[in-house]
Amino acid sequence: MFARQALRSTQAAAPRFFSTSAANNRAVAVLGASGGIGQPLSLLLKQNPLVSDLRLYDVRLAPGVAADISHVNTPSTTTGFQADELDKALKDVEVIVIPAGVPRKPGMTRDDLFNTNASIVRDLAKKAAEVAPKAHLLIISNPVNSTVPIVAEVFKKAGVYDPKKLYGVTTLDVTRASTFLSGISGKKPADTVVPVVGGHSGVTIVPLLSQANGGDAVAKGEQYEKLVHRIQFGGDEVVKAKDGAGSATLSMAYAAAVFSDSLLKALNGEKGVKECAYVESPLYKDQGATFFASPVTLGPNGVEEIHPVGKVSAEEEKLLEAAIPELAKNIKKGAEWYASNP
Ligand code: NAD
Ligand code: LMR
Repeated sequence: MFARQALRSTQAAAPRFFSTSAANNRAVAVLGASGGIGQPLSLLLKQNPLVSDLRLYDVRLAPGVAADISHVNTPSTTTGFQADELDKALKDVEVIVIPAGVPRKPGMTRDDLFNTNASIVRDLAKKAAEVAPKAHLLIISNPVNSTVPIVAEVFKKAGVYDPKKLYGVTTLDVTRASTFLSGISGKKPADTVVPVVGGHSGVTIVPLLSQANGGDAVAKGEQYEKLVHRIQFGGDEVVKAKDGAGSATLSMAYAAAVFSDSLLKALNGEKGVKECAYVESPLYKDQGATFFASPVTLGPNGVEEIHPVGKVSAEEEKLLEAAIPELAKNIKKGAEWYASNP
C-alpha cells in the first residue's frame, strides 16, 4: 500500500499518527535534525511507537531540539548530538534519515544545490558506512537523483554496500499527486493513490495517473498537462511561496515520516508494505538510469521486490522518454563527482 492508504489504516486505529501494534524497538537517527525538515520530522518520529531510540544530529542546535522533543510523553528516548558527536549518534542505529543540506531559493534548480550538498551527504555517508554499515539509509537531501548514487559509491568504496538498504525518499511526490488529483476528482485523498516513478526533480518526476484511482476524472489535453506539470514542479510552488526562506519542510517531514513508518513496519515483519522509492533498479538500467523510483515492496531486509512501471498510457510513455536521459545524466554526475572527490 502507498503512503496515503497506509496512514488511513493507522489513523483509524490510533489517536496518534501511527499504528501501535508492533514491537517498539528501533534506533533511528536523523542527520540534519535542526533544520526545516529535521525538526518536524523528528517530532513525528517521536510520535511513532515503532521508534524506541531517537538520535538527533546536526552541526547546530541538535541538543536543544532534542531536549524540547524529549518532553513529549511517548516512550522513546530522544538524544541530541553535536557536530563532533556523529560517531556516537550513529552507533547501533538501524535507520538513518538524512535531510542535511541547503534548500533551494527562487530561481534555483535542485541541481544548483549539488556543489554544496554532495559533500555534506558524502561525509555523512562515510561515517555511516564506518559506524553503522548495516543501517537503512533514507536520503532526502537534494538533488536526490545524484545524492543517492553518491551514497551508493561511498558504501561501495567501504565494501559495505547493500542496495536493498538505500532509498531516495520520493514520498512527497506521491503525496502531492494524491492531493492534487483528489482536488480534481473529488475523491478522498486517502483513496487516491498515484504511483510516481522516475526521479525527484522536474521532468524526471513521472506520475502514472492512468493507474490511479480517480485518474479517469482528469480530461486529457490541457487539464492533464497542467496536473502533470503541477506534480512535477510542486516543489517550485512552495519555493516561490516561501519567497527566499527555503523549500517544502512540513509536507516533506510528513512524507518522510510516512516512508519511515512503512519501512519500520516492514522491518518488523509486516507483509505487503509497498511504497514508491528511488532505489538501485534494473528497470531502466540499460538506458543509464541505474537508480529509478518505482513501487517497491519492503521487507525485513529492506527492498524485497522492485515492481515494474506496468501498463502506461501514450502520454506517460512520452514522460518516461523525457525522464530517463535526464535521470541517467544526474546519476552519472553523482558517481563521477564522487570518483574525483572520494
Ligand atoms: P534547512 O537549511 O532548514 O536544514 C538543513 C539542516 O542541515 C540545517 O539544520 C543544517 O545545520 C544541517 N546541516 C548542514 N550540514 C550538515 C552536516 N554536515 N551534518 C549535519 N547537519 C547538517 O533545509 P531543509 O529545508 O530542512 O532542507 C534540507 C534538504 O532537503 C535540502 O537539500 C532540500 O532541498 C531537501 N528536500 C528534499 C525533499 C525531497 O522530496 N526529497 C523535499 C524537501 C527538501
Ligand atoms: C520538493 O520537492 O519540495 C523538494 O525537493 C524541495 C525543492 O527544492 O523543491
